[in-house]
Amino acid sequence: TEETLVLVKPDGVARGMTGAILARIEAKGYSLVDIRLVEPDRTTLEQHYAEHEGKPFYEPLLDFMMSGPSVAIRLAGDRVIEGFRSLAGTTDPTTAAPGTVRGDFGRDWGLKVQQNLVHGSDSVESAQRELSIWF
Ligand code: GTP
Ligand code: MG
Repeated sequence: TEETLVLVKPDGVARGMTGAILARIEAKGYSLVDIRLVEPDRTTLEQHYAEHEGKPFYEPLLDFMMSGPSVAIRLAGDRVIEGFRSLAGTTDPTTAAPGTVRGDFGRDWGLKVQQNLVHGSDSVESAQRELSIWF
């Protein structure tokens, strides 16, 4: 088995999509190991998004992630890392495939950062690193 970090980001929580997203995760058959509502401070987000430091969307991304609570989920299951990213869809919500969380619930709002509802770790190493930041 394998674990990943999923975040329902502030747009997803603010729009009341947490339940719909959790329903898809549960319907797919993954296991909730831990779940919490978190209001991360800047230091936490600098660690989480270290790979993006210096990119044009970095500061808007951190501001967005501090704009309200996120739901952090420790999720388990065989191949859950790639499985959740498949459920989430590609990064840009305007073109993410219908049937995915981002494709069904997201779009461009004309903002400096893409508000795309969820985060999922992209590798075993990222998952371990990110889980230790949020839990
Ligand atoms: P996460 O699961 O959130 O990590 O998404 P991802 O792996 O599909 O995207 P990535 O790690 O590359 O980027 C992290 C976040 O930064 C994204 O989820 C978006 O919110 C934002 N972002 C990434 N690329 C862009 C971009 O090109 N433009 C803008 N405006 N925002 C971006
Ligand atoms: Mg990423």
